[in-house]
Amino acid sequence: MTSLVACAFLSLIISLVALPRPCTAFRMPSPVHRTPRTRVRSRQPSLLRMSASEDASDTIMRIDNVHAEVGEEEEKVVKILDGFSLEVKKGEVHAIMGPNGSGKSTLSKVITGHPDYRVIEGSITFKGEDVLDMDVDERALAGIFLAFQYPVEIAGVSNSDFLRAAVNIRRKREGLDDLDAIEFSMKMFEELDKLGLDPSFLDRGINAGFSGGEKKRNEVLQMVMLNPDLVILDETDSGLDVDSLKTTAEAVNNFKASHPDKTFLIITHYQRLLDLIKADRVSVMKKGRVVLTGGPDLATTIEQWGYGDWLEKEAAGGREAVLA
Ligand SMILES: Nc1ncnc2c1ncn2[C@@H]1O[C@H](COP(=O)(O)OP(=O)(O)O)[C@@H](O)[C@H]1O
Ligand SMILES: [Mg+2]
Repeated sequence: MTSLVACAFLSLIISLVALPRPCTAFRMPSPVHRTPRTRVRSRQPSLLRMSASEDASDTIMRIDNVHAEVGEEEEKVVKILDGFSLEVKKGEVHAIMGPNGSGKSTLSKVITGHPDYRVIEGSITFKGEDVLDMDVDERALAGIFLAFQYPVEIAGVSNSDFLRAAVNIRRKREGLDDLDAIEFSMKMFEELDKLGLDPSFLDRGINAGFSGGEKKRNEVLQMVMLNPDLVILDETDSGLDVDSLKTTAEAVNNFKASHPDKTFLIITHYQRLLDLIKADRVSVMKKGRVVLTGGPDLATTIEQWGYGDWLEKEAAGGREAVLA
């Protein structure tokens, strides 16, 4: 539990100001084994477009054949990611869908460097740099942000203190001057208003006593304030009522509209979030790996067909194989 809180703390970049001990990112113990992805031809090209390096030049993140496990004692080790590969282009909104337990949250934790999850094979590069060789705070400073599926409460550190420290550390890394208190407050109040959050939230501990919806909106507040290059939203729609969902999606869309270069990985079970935040591509994950990648229509098809065997059949031979 302590490590979980510490890591959440770090992923919010608070590690940069008050981490009691460093969370060390796991490095690969063995040589990287790369398995080139096979390009699959579909009889339904609009549905199936594999992500293998069509144009590597604008790739912001490449995940190659990642295998990851959790658990310390040998008999309790669970393998979760099982050859996960994905290429994400700069400026893309890429949805990751998949049934419960397929490894979506694990993927987000592996990218951000949660210390409980060991990468035993494969590689992840972000802006050409080896992510697995970076500590968790370096990943955050490099511009990777994770909005948690289950945001943790951290009493004793106010939202505003945390955000101001984190924003300024990230600005420093980008060669920018600190925001002074007035500039910071103006920006913060503007964003709070957009998200429908009461200004009193600033003085409260991070997520302390927040409702589920407020926590999710607070994650989005952190996102817009920290200005990351890659935003991972893990089930941001869960726990949100219809109005909160719309407000949150609007905040994400506004951020994206004013920063077209920002890249999003949107992890969700349902199409309803993708009705509000348009994905450029959708990848479906099952049992720790991507089984199918397609355009936005894939989310609609999943809504209709579910996560059954048709996905693997589609990947193997097109819709005719599914209907046969
Ligand atoms: N810390 C952990 N210890 C043991 N099992 C875990 C741990 N984290 C995840 N798992 C297991 O890994 C599988 C994938 O979990 P998760 O990544 O949360 O899936 P998803 O987000 O797709 O629902 C699940 O079976 C889950 O129980
Ligand atoms: Mg999850």
